[in-house]
Amino acid sequence: ENLSYKEAIEKAGSSITRFPLIHIRSIPLMCHIANNWDSIWAFCPDPSDLLIATYPKAGTTWTQEIVDLLLHNGDAEACKRAPTPIRSPFLEICSPPPIPSGLDLLKKMDPPRVIKTHLPFQLVPPGFWESKCKAIYVARNAKDNLVSYYYFDLMNKTQPEPGPFDGYINKFMRGELSWGPWYDHVKSYWVEKEKRNILYLFYEDMKENPRREVLRIMKYLDLSVSDEVINQIVELTSFKSMKENPMANYSCIPSPVFDQSVSPFMRKGEVGDWKNHFTPEQAKMFDEDYAEQMKDVNIPFRSLI
Ligand code: A3P
Repeated sequence: ENLSYKEAIEKAGSSITRFPLIHIRSIPLMCHIANNWDSIWAFCPDPSDLLIATYPKAGTTWTQEIVDLLLHNGDAEACKRAPTPIRSPFLEICSPPPIPSGLDLLKKMDPPRVIKTHLPFQLVPPGFWESKCKAIYVARNAKDNLVSYYYFDLMNKTQPEPGPFDGYINKFMRGELSWGPWYDHVKSYWVEKEKRNILYLFYEDMKENPRREVLRIMKYLDLSVSDEVINQIVELTSFKSMKENPMANYSCIPSPVFDQSVSPFMRKGEVGDWKNHFTPEQAKMFDEDYAEQMKDVNIPFRSLI
C-alpha cells in the first residue's frame, strides 16, 4: 500500500493513543519501538549513510534541513520533494499499522540516506559504527530542551501526557521521559565523538552564527558549496522560513497525532525561553541537580543561567 502519512494515520484511527513507555536497557521508549527492538538493533546501514542524532527537541529538524540542502547544493525545490520524515527517515519510530515505520521507509531508499535518531549512543545499532558512518550530534541546553519537549508532549498525541510543568521538570531530571535521561544522552555522544568521528554541534551555536555552523557541516560532509549557496541555505533554514515551509513544519502529520493547534511544531526557535517558564525556585533546584548529574564531564553548554 502506498498511502500518504495523512491517509495512513486516518486508517490507523483509534489505535493512535498516548503510548506507554517500555524500558530497553533501562531507557524508556514508546512501546512500539520497544516491541520492534530486535529489528532496530539489527539495522545495517550503508557506509555512505549519515546519522543525525539528538535528544528530542534539540534541533533535529533544523539540522536535517541544512543537510538536505547541502546535499542538493541549496536547491529549495529539490528539498521540497517530500516532508522531512520521508526525506530523512526516523530510524526507530514505529506506530500502529499502516503508518510506515522508519525501517520500512529506509528499506525503500537507496543510500546515501540521512537517518534521524533520538537513541542514546549505547542504543544506536552497532552497524553504524562498524560501517564507519558519519554522524552529527546536536545538543541543546537542558532547560530550553525541557521546555521545548514539554510543549511537544502536549501536542504529540502519541507521547505520554506531560502533566503539570512542575512535575515535568522532575520527570526530566529523573530521566523518565521518552528516550530517557537528557544528561546521559548528551554525555554518551560527547565521550565517543573523537573515536567515532562524530560532529558534535550545539543549538545555541547554530542560533548565534548559523553560517559558521552550516560551513562546519559542509566541511564535515566533504562537500564544497559556493558562498552564495551557503547564504541561501542559511536563509532557507531560518526559523521563519522553516515555519512557513510545509515540507519542514510537520504539517504532513495530521492532528490526531500532532495537534499543532495546541502548540506548533515550529514553536519559538529561541535560546533562553526557559526563563519564561521556570520559577526562580525551580531554576535553583534544577541547577543544583544539574551540577551533580554533569560533574563528570565538561560539555560547554551555554544559556543555562
Ligand atoms: P522550540 O520548541 O523551542 O521552538 P526537533 O526538530 O529536534 O524536534 O526540535 C524542535 C525545536 O527546534 C523547536 O524548538 C523548534 O522550534 C526548533 N527549530 C526548528 N527549526 C528551527 C530553526 N530553523 N531555527 C531555530 N529553531 C528551530
